[in-house]
Amino acid sequence: MIRKACGVWCIETARTGYYLAERGPLVEHLHYGRRLEPDLEAMRAPVSVAMGTDVIHDPLNDPALSLLHLGLEISPLDKGDYRPGALAMRDARGSAVLDLRCEGIELLGAPVPAAGLPQVRGGSDTLVVRAAAAPSGALVERFYTPLEDCDVIVVRTRVTNRGEGPLRLERLFSYQLDLPGREWELVSFTGAWAREFAPTRRPVEAGAALVASRSGVSSHYANPFAMVCSRGADETSGEVYGTNLLWSGSHETILEAGPYSTTRLLSGIQAEGFTWTLEPGESFDSPEAVLAYSATGFETLSHSMHALVREHIVPGRWAGAERPVLVNTWEAMYFDLSEKRLDALARSASSVGAELFVLDDGWFGRRTSDERGLGDFSVNRKRLPSGLTGLSSRLKKRGLDFGLWVEPEMVNRDSALFEAHPDWILADPATVPSPSRHQFVLDLCREEVQDHLIGQITALLDSAPIRYVKWDMNRHHSDRFSPALAEPGRLDVAWTRGLYRVLREITAAHPGVLFESCASGGNRVDLGMASYMPQVWLSDDTDAWERARIQTGASYGYPQSLWGSHVGASPNHQTLRSSSIEARFDVAAFGLLGYELDLDGLSPAELRAVRAQLRFYKEHRGLFQFGRWYRLRSPFESDECAWMAVAPDSTEAVVLEMVGRAVANVDAPPLRLRGLDPRARYRVSTRREMLDPRVFGSLINTVLPVRVDHEGALVRAVARHRPMTTEAFEAEASGSVLMNAGLRLPQRFAGTGFVEGMRVMPDCSARLHLVTKLAR
Ligand code: DGJ
Repeated sequence: MIRKACGVWCIETARTGYYLAERGPLVEHLHYGRRLEPDLEAMRAPVSVAMGTDVIHDPLNDPALSLLHLGLEISPLDKGDYRPGALAMRDARGSAVLDLRCEGIELLGAPVPAAGLPQVRGGSDTLVVRAAAAPSGALVERFYTPLEDCDVIVVRTRVTNRGEGPLRLERLFSYQLDLPGREWELVSFTGAWAREFAPTRRPVEAGAALVASRSGVSSHYANPFAMVCSRGADETSGEVYGTNLLWSGSHETILEAGPYSTTRLLSGIQAEGFTWTLEPGESFDSPEAVLAYSATGFETLSHSMHALVREHIVPGRWAGAERPVLVNTWEAMYFDLSEKRLDALARSASSVGAELFVLDDGWFGRRTSDERGLGDFSVNRKRLPSGLTGLSSRLKKRGLDFGLWVEPEMVNRDSALFEAHPDWILADPATVPSPSRHQFVLDLCREEVQDHLIGQITALLDSAPIRYVKWDMNRHHSDRFSPALAEPGRLDVAWTRGLYRVLREITAAHPGVLFESCASGGNRVDLGMASYMPQVWLSDDTDAWERARIQTGASYGYPQSLWGSHVGASPNHQTLRSSSIEARFDVAAFGLLGYELDLDGLSPAELRAVRAQLRFYKEHRGLFQFGRWYRLRSPFESDECAWMAVAPDSTEAVVLEMVGRAVANVDAPPLRLRGLDPRARYRVSTRREMLDPRVFGSLINTVLPVRVDHEGALVRAVARHRPMTTEAFEAEASGSVLMNAGLRLPQRFAGTGFVEGMRVMPDCSARLHLVTKLAR
């Protein structure tokens, strides 16, 4: 809701409020935090005397006022606000001095769409603040839309040239937010291929903190989601702000403490190299940014972000829609595809209970390795003589839907597409373009290239009953030059807008197809992509412990209903770490489950385990995919990880308990659960898992009556056919006990002695506990 009370504009959600008011020619930011009853005089910054070296903004009207002491919604340019600027532009004379003065604040009925950009769904009121700088003709408009249900405020900026000469934009953040005080910390999520989403926490009092991608995509280097928190904030206490962008290109978030008592947060498209000249009458829209606030730590902030993605970002049709369990060919066979191998994998997929079969890379044109073929999405008949329709109808008979991998934005030099259009890639003709994974970036600034992709993928989707598409993108941008652009500084933005046109048209024409966005795993996990594609392949790392870390990091800003999570092979293909099929499932279950390994290579016991896993997952799919998420133990703070997903009415929950690195001779502390009804009584039962006797190594001889070779044929045969089972555990307690005293689980194997019921939890092992409310 938006209201005006006591001269203050109030942009409010269920629990939060954003407050601003006019102050002479300026718009003062008064407060963003807990919702409150405004009081203009009490909330204003007191400024009655110029301090020290202050630059006075408007000496004729207010001889004491320096911008540096105020929170500001829009700062006049080069008028003494030396905090980082959200805007930079030059008028026709080359002047970058723009005394932006408030032209009014208006309540609009509904959100104003920004053409060509992804948008948050929902919101019924929008407030617009207008500021103009007369001689330049620049009009700056900032739009604010509250989303009451999830405590999020959507904000963006538009610049319009109302002058008579050109206006050159050089920086345009989606918003600026001045927070009180200087003692804030920035939490950002950094990484690289296969190690995405590592949380990094920095105090900002000492200097500016930056989260930035310059690689043309939102990137695994620095995700656009970030948090600003008070010192010492943790899961359940402290103030936390969250920021994210509906933008998939290069981006930048800055948090900088000012010289007085404010800290400025800004976020938007990457300013380095950006220019966009507006001719008279033209406008430029920033992408939408989202802001959220929690007075009770990271957990509440995550819940807001999760609700935002679930209810307001992913295409409406998929919000809350349960997703199928898939089997993907990539780590099962990489490029070594044949109909025979696919049929064999499909048979196993169907026998374990999978619902969707995804044919990954290698099915088209010359694509027998990553060196060739990209760009030519017509089926390779040598490999698949019966084509996609043949394969899909065989899958259908086995009860499996058909999904397909594509990577439309890129091209290999060795491809028919490149041979026909060598000039369609991003490249400066004066230099040799730099490849990555033997591929180049198609120039999506060009409409003809966009049209080609739309036509090509539409024809493909119409050629066979394809229910799911994995839309991949496997490189960062380089050689960013396009003959289509008269102004080179537009490239990153024009390219991303070109991509959005392609995605918009293809996804709108195929509403029934489930799209999963992928970019070498998590190189483009952002709200822009999520607006078109309700799922993302979070990381190419399928190692259970690494995934526990990556999913923990991602969960701060994104819900598990967004991320695909697969059971891979052991030893894992990225880390070479071994783990049990059960531990791999336990982690992958918290998300959109898939299997990406050669199922036929599993032992009979492992296949039985997989069948049981799928039964369990399907029974609790709603919880695993959409349950309210709690981080109970962080793998970034210890060698253990624990999560919990709770039903909206708190009647049921699943808990992951994982050991990354086992330590001998320790008592595991009670596991404090979250989100339950304190007055209700619950039963906790541990899912029984297959336990490979080889986990004991030579210790097995200390419990067996006869001596065996612990690496010998007998033990191997037992492991393949009749392994052991993990402990049986059931307990009952009130929600209040489980959340405060914690869940007391049986003793873990500690290095001295083993008795029935003891929990064997070596490195990289896990358990799932089911928590069910009991009828009174
Ligand atoms: C990168 C993706 O992240 C993988 O899952 C796989 O699809 C490969 N590309 C295929 O080339």
